[in-house]
Amino acid sequence: MKRKLNLDDYGIYEGISETVVTTNRGWTSNAAPMGIIRKKEKLFARLFKGSTTYDNVLSEKILVANTTWDPRIFVNSTFSDLDDDYFENITFNGRTFVTLKKAQCWVAFECTNNKLTSESLVTELVPIKARINRCSIRAPNRGLFGVIEACIHATRYQLTGEEKYLRLIKAYGDIVDKCGGELEKESMKLLYAYL
Ligand SMILES: Cc1cc2nc3c(=O)[nH]c(=O)nc-3n(C[C@H](O)[C@H](O)[C@H](O)COP(=O)(O)O)c2cc1C
Repeated sequence: MKRKLNLDDYGIYEGISETVVTTNRGWTSNAAPMGIIRKKEKLFARLFKGSTTYDNVLSEKILVANTTWDPRIFVNSTFSDLDDDYFENITFNGRTFVTLKKAQCWVAFECTNNKLTSESLVTELVPIKARINRCSIRAPNRGLFGVIEACIHATRYQLTGEEKYLRLIKAYGDIVDKCGGELEKESMKLLYAYL
């Protein structure tokens, strides 16, 4: 980007931002929750081997971090593929990438300085284009955060089959019941159905 992009304007602050990362290989689009790690002005993602996102980033060297507060998108993109109509193709400076139509905002990144280990790929992210679609002001809701935490424990449960993750999912499910709206409760049911 010509003008330096202020990451704060796009909701990406220091620490780890839980975004839904969209990638593509040819015309096939993919979405999955992924953390965007920010240390001062440097950005990274750590992508574990075995995911479609990992494969797509290695092949295309581009990813888009989408901000959404929709818990269904977190659950469905963790455990299955989103329908094609969730995605929008954008061409910029001769590069085509894919975003989530319903994202509040997105930032497309070039993936550089890729470091491969036996388990993961750590990639440094350089912004190339960003857009704010709509800005919703929303107070923190523990129900939404509960769904996100439960998704993380559910991926660990799927990997290891360890009982302790089921207990954690249940604990976050209780918070969703107490603090979430209908959307969060519906998303938690969706999550249980994937287990
Ligand atoms: C909130 C959240 C954050 C996640 N962050 C990461 C991450 O930073 N790196 C990673 O490799 N997987 C992460 N995951 C797990 C992936 O989303 C999960 O493995 C997913 O199934 C990968 O989908 P894909 O095969 O379509 O890429 C995260 C999951 C959740 C729910």
